[in-house]
Amino acid sequence: MNETFADRLRSAMARQDKKQVDLIRAAAEQGLKLGKSHMSQYVSGKTIPRAGILHFLAQTLDVDEDWLKDGKNTGTSRSCRREDNGTDNDHISGGITMRYFKKSSKLNNVLYDVRGPVVDEATKMEEDGTQILKLNIGNPAPFGFRTPDEVIYDMRRQLTECEGYSSANGLFSARKAIMQYAQLKKIPNVTMDDIYTGNGVSELINLCMSALLDDGDEILIPSPDYPLWTACATLAGGKPVHYICDEQADWYPDMEDMKKKITDRTKAIVIINPNNPTGALYPKEVLQQIVDIARQHQLIIFSDEIYDRLVMDGEEHISIASLAPDLFCVTFSGLSKSHMIAGFRIGWMILSGNKRMATDYIEGLKMLSNMRLCSNVPAQSIVQTALGGNQSVKSYIVPGGRIYEQREFIYNALTDIPGISCVKPKAAFYIFPKIDVKKFNITNDEQFALDLLREKKILLIHGGGFNWHQPDHFRIVYLPRIEVLKEAMDKIKDFFSYYKQA
Ligand SMILES: Cc1ncc(COP(=O)(O)O)c(C=O)c1O
Repeated sequence: MNETFADRLRSAMARQDKKQVDLIRAAAEQGLKLGKSHMSQYVSGKTIPRAGILHFLAQTLDVDEDWLKDGKNTGTSRSCRREDNGTDNDHISGGITMRYFKKSSKLNNVLYDVRGPVVDEATKMEEDGTQILKLNIGNPAPFGFRTPDEVIYDMRRQLTECEGYSSANGLFSARKAIMQYAQLKKIPNVTMDDIYTGNGVSELINLCMSALLDDGDEILIPSPDYPLWTACATLAGGKPVHYICDEQADWYPDMEDMKKKITDRTKAIVIINPNNPTGALYPKEVLQQIVDIARQHQLIIFSDEIYDRLVMDGEEHISIASLAPDLFCVTFSGLSKSHMIAGFRIGWMILSGNKRMATDYIEGLKMLSNMRLCSNVPAQSIVQTALGGNQSVKSYIVPGGRIYEQREFIYNALTDIPGISCVKPKAAFYIFPKIDVKKFNITNDEQFALDLLREKKILLIHGGGFNWHQPDHFRIVYLPRIEVLKEAMDKIKDFFSYYKQA
């Protein structure tokens, strides 16, 4: 096996249950300079450390230095010994050596920083008793957004009828309601068999990527993105190719960049509309251009529309599938955000348009859908109620409503900070501000997020967590009430009044 320094380092860290932040902290305690970016470069295999740091890592992780450095078996390393005859620690009984399990190498390039190292550090701080203000995750319930009463009432009533599995793609009543929703959105050529419910959109994204991508197949994904798309495409063996969304153009996709990145391995285009993390909403002209590109290259369109009912300023959401009857489209939505029931885990996907292009792929989708038996049945039981009844979300997104007013507040407060600029979001509940990196000497955005966390006890996610490749953005979830946002923004403003990255 060709084990690299990074492999040995990661396995030693796992054996000791140590994370990058633990080592950085331990180094600081010993007066050693070990920065976050260096540490992450060692772990990802981009560089190897100089002698002093190598010595520190070996000591702290209780492994032999030569083994850590180049894998040489000196007979003294714990990690080496487990491949020998075992030791006190590795011995179980009867001369059997404890086997050690590493995660699959399929996960090596998978990134999901929405729950990554900065969040791990916040959890640690909380465990130590520090109160953290969390602006990092789009989970409405903890911020006082309540599920409509009718939804809870109907779920309770139906609970005893939901004890068994449903059909793999979902309860008839749920799919019927979703089909009617598809009709309202003018999504063409949808039958009951083209609708699949899932344990959130998340499960269906994973399922779609697994069923489509062979090793090396390419898929166009926006940058910035909701990182699950990139993670699932990578996990499936595909190659995510990021097209740029242009901040200067209201964060719309850069069509020239998209065209440039298409190769003969490209199978599909993903769009996230309305967008997380930018809050952009794509107008018809933009969607039409994407359809034209997909048509020219005969690509599948995956459209993540989970925020389609959280659109402000009187704008209308258009499903891209409605413009592409001749292409194969998969449209995703669910109740996590519009009905504030992220915890119930209910989402769906709608196959539409030219299904003849994808009969074999659809077989794959069915197979994976069957293999997971069905999605959460109690949550499916309230889809009809949720989609059909009073849409309480509407009161949040108009002037005087919480999401609308919180957006106004956060946008004004951010643009009031010297060195910060942003595009006003039109939908969802995220804002993706730009930092003047020269002013603050920022070269590592994850370090910026860690510094803000440690100094101001505010948790947000750096732009890199959304596959944005410059260290100049971060995302704020503006779900908390204005009083809380105000407190956070005062602290963030103060932080930017003195922050300079070393
Ligand atoms: C763009 C986008 N797609 C999908 C999801 C996942 O949603 P679900 O709760 O349906 O799994 C999220 C969650 O934040 C999201 O922002």
